[in-house]
Amino acid sequence: MEIAILPSLLAADFGHLADACRQVAASGADALHLDIMDAHFVPNLSFGPDVAAMAHRTEPDLPLNTHLMMTQPDRYAIRFIEAGAATVLIHVEADCDVAGTLAEIRRRKVRAGVTIKPATPAEAVFPFLPLVDEVLVMTVEPGYGGQSFLEGMLPKLAAIRREAIRRGQPGLLLMVDGGINAATAAACAARGANAFVAGNSLFRQTDLKAGVREMRQAAAAAYGKEL
Ligand code: DX5
Ligand code: ZN
Repeated sequence: MEIAILPSLLAADFGHLADACRQVAASGADALHLDIMDAHFVPNLSFGPDVAAMAHRTEPDLPLNTHLMMTQPDRYAIRFIEAGAATVLIHVEADCDVAGTLAEIRRRKVRAGVTIKPATPAEAVFPFLPLVDEVLVMTVEPGYGGQSFLEGMLPKLAAIRREAIRRGQPGLLLMVDGGINAATAAACAARGANAFVAGNSLFRQTDLKAGVREMRQAAAAAYGKEL
């Protein structure tokens, strides 16, 4: 199974975001994860389409994986697509026509993803599986980087991976986000996760390339062992 590593820009030095984009591009990471927060869906405000456009201008070949932690992602998805997003992920808990918004994202030839918060059961994403390329399971309460990994999310991963296989979608990108380091990535990979968003655990390291390589190796070695 292909393993994807996505450093989260939220954990970078906000005084040098363009440098962080270059660092991520040079690290061998598969994409840059952008945590977009609206101070309504989550109690924090991060950055908007202009930062996404800066990242795309700085590193045009680095896919932008855009996580909309927004109450009304339908109103902004297009802004991030126009800024250069390769993937737009919206929450099932959002206050919008989730299926219609996912269809609109795909209509614009951009990958679509659906995301669930810790309190939302795995089954909540099942109806959307035919409409998405990616499923993101939050392994912390969304809103802030640097939180501790929630072990209780592990069974959710296995349930989603098994359902995707049952539905004939074995290649679904199953992503985790929050408190991810090499050890927690391995625990998630064992239950079928194959994409790993990491902010603090990667940006705190002096050698980002080594951190990305170590996380990828740990996840690849553990993949599927607890499915
Ligand atoms: C939470 C954010 C964080 C961020 C990564 O809303 O989505 O999960 O991406 O955070 P850490 O620093 O825990 O990897
Ligand atoms: Zn995120």
